Parts: sequence; structure tokens; C-alpha cells
Amino acid sequence: MSEGPWGYVAGRLLALLFVSALFGYLFGQPLAWLSAALLAYLGWHLWHLWQLESWLRRKLGEPPRDAAGLWGGVFAQLHRLRLQSRARKKRLARVLKEFRKSTQALPDAGVVLDKDNAIVWLNEAATRLLGLRPADRGQRIENLLRAPEFAAFLRAARTDSNLRMASPPDEAVKLSLQVVPYGETQHLLLAKDITHEVRLETVRRTFVANASHELRSPLTVISGYLDSLAGDPELADYWREPVDEMARQSERMRRIIEDLLTLSRLEASAPEAERDYVDVAAMLTVLRKEALARPQRPGVIELHLDTEAGLLGVESEIYSAFANLIGNALKYTPTDGRVSIRWRMEGEEGWMSVEDDGIGIPAEAIPRLTERFYRVHKGRDRTTGGTGLGLAIVKHVLQRHGGRLAVESKIGAGSRFTCRFPPGRIAAGPEATDGHTGGDGAVPGDATAAAAGSGSGSEAGRAPTSP
Ligand SMILES: Nc1ncnc2c1ncn2[C@@H]1O[C@H](COP(=O)(O)OP(=O)(O)OP(=O)(O)O)[C@@H](O)[C@H]1O
Ligand SMILES: [Mg+2]
Repeated sequence: MSEGPWGYVAGRLLALLFVSALFGYLFGQPLAWLSAALLAYLGWHLWHLWQLESWLRRKLGEPPRDAAGLWGGVFAQLHRLRLQSRARKKRLARVLKEFRKSTQALPDAGVVLDKDNAIVWLNEAATRLLGLRPADRGQRIENLLRAPEFAAFLRAARTDSNLRMASPPDEAVKLSLQVVPYGETQHLLLAKDITHEVRLETVRRTFVANASHELRSPLTVISGYLDSLAGDPELADYWREPVDEMARQSERMRRIIEDLLTLSRLEASAPEAERDYVDVAAMLTVLRKEALARPQRPGVIELHLDTEAGLLGVESEIYSAFANLIGNALKYTPTDGRVSIRWRMEGEEGWMSVEDDGIGIPAEAIPRLTERFYRVHKGRDRTTGGTGLGLAIVKHVLQRHGGRLAVESKIGAGSRFTCRFPPGRIAAGPEATDGHTGGDGAVPGDATAAAAGSGSGSEAGRAPTSP
């Protein structure tokens, strides 16, 4: 408050004291005069306090009584504050109403859960898509949505993963669920209707599978004729080159179709791969042997087996993923280069990496590598026969095994592709006893032997195929 009214108040009090003292001097009994003056002063203030109290109790908006001096200021200030707070309250109520209206209009279901997963709030779409009702507030959501995969998903509560499930009130509606943590302990559960996307995906998948399947038979016929033509000694010389080229291209088409069918099969199978024991060491040993047998290959092909752990998964899928990574390293590394395959435990995870010192991949291409038909080195890839489907298959296989593909590469310096398998997919075996990781680990053959092309010693004592 400004100095003004206080100066005025003090002045008035002093004047009152002075007048009462003067009266006491003139008429005698100065103490009585002084007491009477102070009592009157106190009474005046109490009266205003009473006025203030009864005004505060009355309806908001009614202006206060006129009052002089200090009390006038107090009334005016309080009146302003009350009006301000009323305006703020109205604004907040309006915002809240708008927010409620917009969340109710949202096509996606939203449910706020507290730390015990009890429902705090839900919108209308949550009733339509998840079958939850406003009366379910306070109940734990696991007791209302009883799918087992939902309980597991909620426990994991990872923002980066989605759960697909059928809508409880209508099985034909497919939902994608996401859990977003917010505040200290709360979670927002979002459910989106993806029936249309799922249908389109199914149509696309079926179409690709059918088309690939239908193309396979005519192609086999064409390839067969081309092969017999190519082998015919009476074929005119000027036909030889075109026929060989046709045979190469039909082989390429056959590989594309096989890869597309593999992808379709992977997509159509359950999201989680079965858990058969896979002997990774034996598999990689076979793959290295096959690599060494190639006529055109980098000089050094090393295999380091730092662990004897195996994997739990589908052997044929893991084989095709590893074969593609190794095949790529061989394709994109010159003959004086070096390829190194390694299987090891990194913490609880199992890592299979294929490293080369070949042509490398530009940084901007790395995120796109697993797209279908994506090839970085287009001209070169056509001559080396790549279809650009290999890494898409690798990605799918790893997804089905709960794993991830990590790619590090530098143009001109080489690449490293690492398949990381989660602890749940590792079949523990005794750790490799020898600690040196620079050598060939469990495999006795060394880099020099590999460079000379004698991979034979490496595979000794290992079954060529997994159980
Ligand atoms: N080790 C590598 N070094 C350099 N480039 C690579 C390497 N691995 C993959 N690439 C690039 O990534 C692209 C995609 O690889 P992907 O395995 O999917 O296809 P591809 O090998 O060309 O064909 P496919 O595997 O179907 O026969 C390749 O065409 C190539 O350009
Ligand atoms: Mg490939």
C-alpha cells in the first residue's frame, strides 16, 4: 500500500490525541478525555471491520460500501482481487471444458492410469474401443481388459513399443495400444483403431505372396529352356552371349521371387519365433567354409567364437540372416580385403557381428538399408546380383527373435553389421575358456590359414550342421 493513507491515518490519530489533550487541559480530567477519544477511534475501526466481514460474506460482484481513508483503500483492493480471481476461475473452467470436449471428440481412446494401474480418467472412445465405462474409474485396468498379452505389455510400459490386439467389445476391430508415462507415476494408455491399416497390410501381403508364387512356375520353365539352350553345342555363336545373359537375369528373377516368398512367410508367421536350440558356432563354421569355397572372395575370412552359447530360435531363419550378412561382406569387399565374423556375449546379450574393410556405406543410406529393394551401390549391385531384399529379411528374422540389427559403416573404410539377441533367446553354454579375442577363439584355424584358403582345420571337431 502507498505511503499516502498511512500518513493520513497517523495525522488523524495525532489530531485526535491533540484535541482530547486540549479538552482535558481546558475542562480538566485529561485522562478521561483521552480514553474517550481512543474508545471512539477503536469503535470506528471495529465498525469498518464488521462492514468488511459482512461484505466478504455477501455475493461476489457486489461493490463494497464507500469508506474513507485506509478502509476505503482496503475495500477497493479486495474488490479488485476478488474480481480478478473470479475472471481467472471462469477462464480456467472454460479451458477445462474445451479440453474435455476435445478429448471426448478424439477418435483414439485415452485412459489415465495411476501408479497401481487404476483408471483415473477415460474418454468416450475408450468406451467404444476398449469397452471401459466411466463407472469403471478407480478399478484396476488389468481386471477389466483381461488379455494376457495386455498385462505383460502394461508391466513393461515401454513408450517405444506397441501392442496389437482385438477390441474387446468387437473382435473385428483391431487396435494398436501404446503406454506413455507422464507426471511422477501416472500413465496414459492410448488405443488407436488400425483395422483399415491391418486390412490393407493383409491385402498387400497376400498379393505379393500370390504374385511371387504364380511367377515361380513360368520362370522355372523359361530357366529350364535357357539352360538347355546354353548347353546346346549347336547354338550359334552370336546367340551364346544373349542366352547367357538371359540365363543370368532369369536366375536373378528367381532369387527375387524366392526372397519375396521368404519375406511373405516371415510376415505371415507368428510375431514370436519358436524356440529350438540353434548351435551358432557350428552354423558360423559352415558359413565360413562356404565363404572360403567361393572363387571370388576377400583374402582373409576370420571366425572368432568367443562363447559357446547357442540361440533359441528357428534355425533356417537365423541361417538365412547370417548368410546374407556374410554374403554382403564378401560381395562388397575387394579380394585383398578382410572379413571377420564374431559370436560373443556382450553382457547378457548374444552378439553376432560381421565386419569388413570393404567399400562401406554412406551415413545417410544406413537408416534405409533394411527397406525392401533398397540398394546403395546400384550399378555395382546389379552386376553382383543383389536384389536388395536380404537386409529386409535380416530385420524380420531379428524382430521375430526379439533382436536388433546395428550397422556401423564408413565409406571407403568398411562396415560392421551386428545382430544383437536378447538374454531370453540365449541358450547358455560354457563360456569359451581361452581369453584371447584377437585370435580365432574356439576355432583353431587362424587368419593366415584363412587367407591361404585352407579353412579345413577350422571346422575340425564340429558338426557341420546344428541339431
Ligand atoms: N557389407 C556391406 N558393405 C557395403 N555395402 C553393403 C554391405 N551390406 C549391404 N550393403 C548395401 O546395402 C544394400 C542392401 O543389402 P541387402 O543385403 O538388403 O541387398 P543385396 O545384398 O543387394 O541383395 P540380396 O541380399 O537380396 O541378394 C546392398 O545392395 C548394398 O548396397
Ligand atoms: Mg544381401
